[in-house]
Amino acid sequence: MSPATVAELSQRLAEFSRVLDDKGDDVAPSLEALEAFRVDSLGRKGQLTEVLKALKDLSLEDRRAFGPQAQAAKARCEAAITRCRARLEAAVDEASLGRIDLDLTLPAAVPARGCLHPLTQTLQEMARILGLMGFSWAEGPHIETERNNFEALNIPEDHAARDLQDTFYLRDVPRLLRTHTSPVQIRAMEGGRPPLRVICPGRVFRHESLDASHSAVFHQIEGLAVDRGISFADLKGTLRTFLQRLFGPETETRFRPSYFPFTEPSAEVDVRCLVCGGRGCPACKRSGWIEIMGAGMVHPNVFRAVGYDARQWSGFAFGMGVERVAMLRLGVPDMRLFYENDLRFLRQFDESLL
Ligand code: DAH
Repeated sequence: MSPATVAELSQRLAEFSRVLDDKGDDVAPSLEALEAFRVDSLGRKGQLTEVLKALKDLSLEDRRAFGPQAQAAKARCEAAITRCRARLEAAVDEASLGRIDLDLTLPAAVPARGCLHPLTQTLQEMARILGLMGFSWAEGPHIETERNNFEALNIPEDHAARDLQDTFYLRDVPRLLRTHTSPVQIRAMEGGRPPLRVICPGRVFRHESLDASHSAVFHQIEGLAVDRGISFADLKGTLRTFLQRLFGPETETRFRPSYFPFTEPSAEVDVRCLVCGGRGCPACKRSGWIEIMGAGMVHPNVFRAVGYDARQWSGFAFGMGVERVAMLRLGVPDMRLFYENDLRFLRQFDESLL
C-alpha cells in the first residue's frame, strides 16, 4: 500500500471533523451506539487511528505541520465521547430509579433497638433503690446444697418445703435447684464478716405448674442486714422507705405477724392495694391490701450455723418476688405474659416506665 499523502490524510481528517461537528454533543443516542462510534473512530482500526498511524510515513516536515492537527482531532473526539457517555449513563440511572419508585426525600426508617425485659427493668429498679440505701449486690448459684437452702436456714428435715412435691432435686448428686434466694444469706455471711448489708437478686425454682400467679421458675430479691444492735424498728423503717420509693411516696405499708423458720419474729409485709387504693377489688381479693414480702429478725440458729455470735450481732432479712412487684407496678394481670416473649407485649415497656 502506497503511503498516504498529506492531502489525503488532511481530507480524511476534515471529513471526520465535519461528522463530529454535525453530531455536536449528541455523539450517539445510546451507550451501545456510542461504543460502536468509539471503535469506529479510535479503535485499533478506527478512522482516526488509521490517520495517526499514517503519520509515521510522512516526512519530518509534513509530520510537524500535520501531526498537531491530527492529535487535536483525537483529543476532541475523546472528550466528546466522554461527555456523551456521562450523559447517557445519568439518563440510564434516572430511568432505573423511576422504575423502582423510590422517594429519596422520605425520612429513613428507624431500626428497632429492643429494650430490657420488664422483669429486668423491675429487678434493676428494686436493686437500685436498695443500693442507695447501702445494700450491695451478692449472688449465689442456682444449684445449691440442702444445707444452704434448708438446714443452715433452720428449716427442719420434716418441713413441707423439703418435700419432693415442692423442690427439684438433682438426680445423681446431693444437690437441688434453690427454692428461694435465702441461701445467698448463708453464703454472704460465711464469705464475709459483719457488719453486712447485702441484697441477693436471682432466679429460683419450685415444682409448681404455671398459672396467672405461679411459675416453676421465677425471681426473688433477698435482703440481709447484720450489725450490732439492729432492731425490728430498723427493719420496718428500711422496708417502709424502700416500698415508698418503689411504689410512690403515698404508699401505706402494714406488718402482719407470720412465721418463717429463719426469722424470729417474722412478718409479712403488705402495701395498700395499688389498684383500688384500699376500697377492695379482685386484685387484693377485696381486702384492700396486697402482700408483697416476707421478713423478720435473723433467727439465732441461722447465726449459729454460720458461726456468728448471736449475743454480739443481730440482723434482719427480707425476701420478695420480682414478678409480683412487676405485675403491680406495670399493671400486668397475668405472670405468664412475662415468659411468652410476645413482642407486642414487651414493646409496651420500651420507654422505661420506671
Ligand atoms: N425465703 C422466703 C420465701 O421464699 C421469703 C423470705 C421470707 C425471705 C422472710 C426472708 C425472710 O429473708 O426473712 O418465701
